[in-house]
Amino acid sequence: MARVVVVGSINMDLVTLAPRFAAPGETLLGERFLTVHGGKGANQAVAAARLGADVALIGAVGDDAFGMQLHAGLAHEGISLDHVARIADCGSGTASITVAEGENHIIVVPAANARVTPAQIERAQATLAKADAILVQMEIPLEAVEATLRLGHRLGKPVILNPAPAQPLPIEWLKLARYLTPNQHELAILLSAGPAEDFLTLMQRSPAPVVLTRGAEGAWYRDGGEPVHQEGFQIDVVDSTGAGDTFNAALAVFLHEGLPIAVRKACAAAALSVSKLGAQGGMPRLDEFNTWLARQG
Ligand code: RIB
Repeated sequence: MARVVVVGSINMDLVTLAPRFAAPGETLLGERFLTVHGGKGANQAVAAARLGADVALIGAVGDDAFGMQLHAGLAHEGISLDHVARIADCGSGTASITVAEGENHIIVVPAANARVTPAQIERAQATLAKADAILVQMEIPLEAVEATLRLGHRLGKPVILNPAPAQPLPIEWLKLARYLTPNQHELAILLSAGPAEDFLTLMQRSPAPVVLTRGAEGAWYRDGGEPVHQEGFQIDVVDSTGAGDTFNAALAVFLHEGLPIAVRKACAAAALSVSKLGAQGGMPRLDEFNTWLARQG
């Protein structure tokens, strides 16, 4: 069983289904509203746990009702929460999500996620030292992302940096990652690219190996040689929220099988995840995943 440690955000997702996206200043009547558990860190932890990994999460929730619900949900998935802080007098992270036309728009308010500190990462050293892979994203303070990269590197662990939401990062930090897992748009921001640079060029000049997600078109990966394309798996899209998180989780869980197999399985898991509503709604369990993948040929 792979041991995965996830460092990242925990949000309550406030999801509105709409016939289309509203224009600025416009009011639309939506079709449905629901609250579901999310946050890139929590989603990656849940997806990895469902795929059979032993998972620990490092993050923070507030002392509000959302925080209690999110904590209980993660515990129910069997995730170790010893390093999830409960911040007093603070709300939990939220994401206001509109789902329309098979796409989503998301606005995140970090709240407690903004209180994850480098000291908290250092306190989790013993947990990180047992990891086969470490996942970190960018909905927590950048100092905490840097601390994860530095400690993971010092411990000799593969750190997968999912640079979402993207912003430019120092080259020295990127070099500490075993893999970067942006989409095309995120890679351009991460590397402060000019408009003329396409993603294959950017992959070649990245300071760390890139596994680039391309939605329904699958993924491209490069680990030294030329970029390689992994085709996507076709499935009807209900809600694409959390597809990237499922991809990252599967990549970490199956990394020990070698990069090509891990990327193929990550594409498959991400495809399955979009077949149901909510970031965590479609994340497959290992038996369901294996059965579905075996049928894909
Ligand atoms: O990656 C999807 C996640 O992004 C959502 O669950 C939302 O919470 C935002 O963090």
